[in-house]
Amino acid sequence: MTTERKSPSTELAGAACVVTGGGSGIGRALAHRFAAAGMHVAIGDVEPAALDATVRELGGDEDRVLGVRCDVRSVEDVQRLRDETVKRFGRVGVVCLNAGVAPVGPILDMTLEVWNWVVDVNLRGVIHGVHVFAPLLAEQGSGHLVLTASAAGVIDTPSVGPYGATKHAVVGIASALRSELADKGVGVSVLCPGLIKTRIFESERNRPAGMADPSEGNAASKQYREWIAASGAPPEHVADVVHRAVVENQFFVFPTSDLDAMIESRMADVRQGLAWRDSSA
Ligand SMILES: NC(=O)c1ccc[n+]([C@@H]2O[C@H](COP(=O)([O-])OP(=O)(O)OC[C@H]3O[C@@H](n4cnc5c(N)ncnc54)[C@H](O)[C@@H]3O)[C@@H](O)[C@H]2O)c1
Repeated sequence: MTTERKSPSTELAGAACVVTGGGSGIGRALAHRFAAAGMHVAIGDVEPAALDATVRELGGDEDRVLGVRCDVRSVEDVQRLRDETVKRFGRVGVVCLNAGVAPVGPILDMTLEVWNWVVDVNLRGVIHGVHVFAPLLAEQGSGHLVLTASAAGVIDTPSVGPYGATKHAVVGIASALRSELADKGVGVSVLCPGLIKTRIFESERNRPAGMADPSEGNAASKQYREWIAASGAPPEHVADVVHRAVVENQFFVFPTSDLDAMIESRMADVRQGLAWRDSSA
């Protein structure tokens, strides 16, 4: 495995950092953190006002920051994000595939429309990002991919089943990429935060046109919003940890410890499965 190897992407200054979903929360904090590390920053987001606000916060200087309207559900949008970034800034050092949505509720209550939306943004969006950016980094022979999964990618996820399913898939993609890109000079990290104080449980603001609001009258949604307001960690902390992970080429990135017990419980579950097999042999 590659955890001991220093990634060439440690040369951050002067290269570009791409962040999808960079208009808010963790993505916005990543944009700020990598800008502070001397990188040019290209932000893609589906929400124009948040995108523009983040570009302004970063100084709005065309030589330093680029905002691109980019819906990660569209591979053409992601290709445009890549093309505009390369045209403006040249070498791409870090790509944070971070855009995500998180409707809350039991699987039995999930419409197919909601399932498709979550899969399109959280999974297909990451697939598009990998498809478009991984060959570019491999060709450069340098760079680092950061895939935002979640602690929900490695634990049981009652009340956020579709979300957890997509985040497990993102961990799977990152695991395969880590091995496949190791000898191409490209590092891979998978970001698995616990609860972070962002607008993730207000994702319905970005739902597809015509879709009913899945959070309306949904007690679990309200509960998750209160939970995040009460105990979410600051996104800036996540960004600091991700910056260190890129510099040190760390694969699994767990910036918070709030869900450690659930992660341990998953590992115990797997061990129990192995023990059960052996006990019945
Ligand atoms: N906040 C948490 O507790 C937490 C925990 C673990 C993982 N995450 C993950 O972190 C990532 C960022 O979420 P956040 O917590 O900052 O939430 P957020 O809602 O504050 O930010 C998400 C961003 O993604 C954008 N977005 C939504 N749909 C998009 C689309 N189709 N195309 C492009 N952009 C789109 C939104 O406009 C927003 O700017 C997500 O992948 C989320 O699953 C969040």
